[in-house]
Order: sequence, then structure tokens, then C-alpha cells
Amino acid sequence: MTTNTSGSGVVINAVPDRIGTPLTPGATKVMLLGAGELGKEVVIAFQRLGVEVIAVDRYPDAPGHQVAHRSHVVDMTDPVALRAVIEAEQPDYVVPEIEAIATEVLVDIHEEGFTEVIPTARATALTMNREGIRRLADERLGLPTSPYAFADSADEIRAATARVGYPCVIKPVMSSSGKGQSVVRGPDEIDAAWDHAVAGGRVKGGRVIVEGFVDFDYEITLLTVRAVDPATGRLSTYFCAPIGHRQQQGDYIESWQPQPMSEVALGGATSVAARIAAALGDGHLGGRGIFGVEMFVKEDDVYFSEVSPRPHDTGLVTLGTQRLSEFEMHARAILGLPVDVTLASPGASAVIYGGLDEPAIAFENVAAALAIPETDIRLFGKPESFARRRMGVVIATADDVGTARQRAGDAARLVRPISTSPQADTAAVATASRAPAPKPDAGHDDLAQTRMTRRPPPAGPPPPVRQTPPAGPPPPAGPPPAAGRPPQQGPRPDARLQKPVRSGEDPR
Ligand SMILES: Nc1ncnc2c1ncn2[C@@H]1O[C@H](COP(=O)(O)OP(=O)(O)OP(=O)(O)O)[C@@H](O)[C@H]1O
Ligand SMILES: [Mg+2]
Repeated sequence: MTTNTSGSGVVINAVPDRIGTPLTPGATKVMLLGAGELGKEVVIAFQRLGVEVIAVDRYPDAPGHQVAHRSHVVDMTDPVALRAVIEAEQPDYVVPEIEAIATEVLVDIHEEGFTEVIPTARATALTMNREGIRRLADERLGLPTSPYAFADSADEIRAATARVGYPCVIKPVMSSSGKGQSVVRGPDEIDAAWDHAVAGGRVKGGRVIVEGFVDFDYEITLLTVRAVDPATGRLSTYFCAPIGHRQQQGDYIESWQPQPMSEVALGGATSVAARIAAALGDGHLGGRGIFGVEMFVKEDDVYFSEVSPRPHDTGLVTLGTQRLSEFEMHARAILGLPVDVTLASPGASAVIYGGLDEPAIAFENVAAALAIPETDIRLFGKPESFARRRMGVVIATADDVGTARQRAGDAARLVRPISTSPQADTAAVATASRAPAPKPDAGHDDLAQTRMTRRPPPAGPPPPVRQTPPAGPPPPAGPPPAAGRPPQQGPRPDARLQKPVRSGEDPR
């Protein structure tokens, strides 16, 4: 599978065109590092292809553990423990599903050449730190981003705002799900934002990025797949139809696909996505897999925000909308198999929160939710619920995105998390399906709250969705952008006829 080259580590120059029998010496083995709801779907996708799957997470009975051949409970930020489990299992592929991993171990095992890290060890290390990915995007690739600077103290933030301006967003360089983020509108708010970032960062030290606030019209995830093109045997870039989404308190609460975009904006977005995804590869066959490229769009301007080198939570919608979900495409791309980004139907996803802080909750009213046409549900099976923990998702399709959003939101609201403890307070249970209002946090302005101020959704996720996504011009036509043809969009009769879209050339 690999060739050792002096100095530059291991180059992937072939992907084995065979899949062995699970649980035998010839098995093709994949290890998922992180076995949450996204990992669970990746495990299922691999299982369907006859691959042996080992799921690793930091707590027992994680969603992915429940569907894998074997599971391990490991603190993946502990380099010794992480190396031990990889060495014990000897997987063909190590597939990170979360950011909080001792990525130096992945770099080492890649160098040693006994397993392949997806998409690459370097990509997992770069993307877990906002500084690494922002410098790559801006300094090396020249992608459009908001103005930014890095700071190691409140005073350095003050200095940075002279360049970045107000309002700006303060984020720990290592954090996810919006943790430790604030919007700062003036010098008075800097100290509180710094304290919030230090408390919310994944590691001690408190380094932050100071980002110019983008007053975007909408934000998207452009799922971008790097997979072997069967015609050439080389990696090619494929784009799914853009996914629009809405965030609250750093978490997505609903997503839809396709997000209407102007031809110019879509061309810009595919170009940005192709360049960042290709740059995270090794120039050969390393770097296969799906990338969730997050971008902000204002009129025809596109700003790169960040990229996940793995399936993206807003891409859960593809379980209903695409011929192959993002999880199935990830599995295929990893195994060197062809992918297909055909959009089968417009659709939407809406998140179901736990609403309760306790283990072993139950869900009522699922039948009523699924009585809404064209709806489907995933309950993740997480052993413990928190009020604001994502416990499930509804996916709906329709002839248009507006109807799909309505259906998904309505169905998600019908599902009722309930306590199974004997002392359950029935009054509390009755309101459990509503996630709590955002916590007041004196001294800083939560980023999600700011977004709510700008475009206020009703309280409680997911809020009723009455409006259609921002209007855009008709589906794109005309010549392809530099980095590849943009995905086509349209109502279902057209969508079902869509051909896969790919870029012919590696844009690097
Ligand atoms: N510079 C910005 N201008 C405007 N809004 C922003 C900016 N940065 C972040 N946001 C808003 O906050 C959300 C979360 O930001 P970001 O994706 O950087 O955080 P995160 O912690 O990496 O979240 P996740 O891990 O869930 O993707 C964005 O999706 C967007 O809605
Ligand atoms: Mg994000």
C-alpha cells in the first residue's frame, strides 16, 4: 500500500483493490478514533462493505461502539494509550472522527508506515488547531478569509483589534462546538472574552484567534470528496450540493441541502474547497476521504472559515438527500472505491436535544414524528443525556427545501425525551423536548446569541422553520470554475437525473 521515501515520510501510491473477510486474518480493518453519531454512521457504512471495524471512544457504549465488531475505551489524548490500541489492533486504516487526539502519535505511525491515517496524519494535526489551518489557508493558499490575528493575552487581543477591527470573534485556537468563543464589540469586552476563551479552550495556555466578524448572508458546508477516479487511477475532487445551516450556541440546529447560491458564489466556494482539500493531501493518493469545508457567503463573496477532514455534522442531512451519504462516501473514498455525489432530493435535518441531564433516557412520540411525510430519524443511543447534548436527528425530504425544513423541524419537536428514573418529575418531563434557553453569561457576548440577534429564531431547538433559505438565482449554468464544476441544484425530478460532479485536475 505504501512506499517509504527518505525524508518526506510515507507516500501512498496504491490502494489495495480487495476487501477481505471480517474476523479472519485477511480482513480489511478500519479503526475509528471517535465513535459518536458521525462515527456510528461511518462504522455502519464500512460494515455494509464487509470491512472489520474497531471503534474507539473515551466512554463505554458510545454510539459507534454499539455497531462495531470491537470497541475500546481509550483517552485518545494520551499518546501512550493511543499508540497501544493502534499497535494491538494493527488496522489498515486509522480514521479520526474527532479533533481531540494526540495527533503526534498519528504522525509517528504514519512515518512508520504500518497503517494509513485518513486523510493524512498532517491534516489531522493541522486542522485540530485553528492557527495551523488558518495559516495554510491564508498564507500558503491565499484563500479569502476574514482578517485575523493570534493573541496570547488580553493585551495582545487589544493590539490585534487595531488590525482586525470591531466587531471581532475571539476563539481558543483549540476548541470545537463553539466552546470559549465570544463576539467582542469594543475594548470593554476584551477581558471577559479572554477569560471565556481560557476557560473554554481544549488545552492550557489560552492562545486565541481574533477574527473579523463576517456579517454573512448565509453559511454553508461544502462537502468535498477526494477519491480515486477509476478512469485515471488518480485522486479527483468531487463536490456535493452545498449545505446551508443554522448555528446556535456553537452547535448546528438545522441544515438543508441544496442551499441556493449565485453562480459566482458557488464557483468561488468550489474553488476554495478544492484547494484546501487538495492541500491536505500528499500529492499522491494520501488525503482520500470527505472534507466539510465551512464558508461564509455575503452576496457573491465567499470567506473560508474552517475545514473538518472528516464527515461534518451538518452533513447528516445527506442520509436522506444523496444517493450516497457523506458517511458512505467517506468509506468508499478511504477504500479507493469510486464515489457518487448525486443529489437525490432536496432535504433538511433538525437536531433532537436531550433536554434532561441523566442517563438512560427514553424517547416518546417517535411514531407521531414519523407520520409526517418523508421523514426519517436517527436516535444515536448515547448512554447519557445532557440538556444540550445532541441525542438524535430528524431527516426529511420534499420537493423543495422549505417544505423539507418544515417537516424536519415539526417532526423533531414532536419527539419527546423522557426520564426513565422512578423519581421523574412529570412536569419537567413534559417540557423536556425543548432544549434550555442559552445560558446567560455575564461579561461576554456569546457568538451564537449575536447571530440570534441578527436573525432571531424562536426559542428552543429546533425552532419552527417557516422561511425558505435565502433566495438565490436559478441553478448555475455556463463554464466551470477553475477548480471543478460546481454541483447542480434543482427540484427532485432534475436532482434525480444529476450526474456526479468532479474536477478533472488536481488544483495544486
Ligand atoms: N468570523 C466570524 N464571523 C461571523 N460568524 C462567525 C465567525 N466565526 C464563527 N462564526 C459563527 O460561529 C459558528 C461556529 O464557529 P466555528 O465553526 O469557528 O466554531 P467551532 O467551535 O469550530 O464549531 P464546530 O466545531 O461546531 O464547527 C460558525 O458556524 C458561525 O455561525
Ligand atoms: Mg465550525
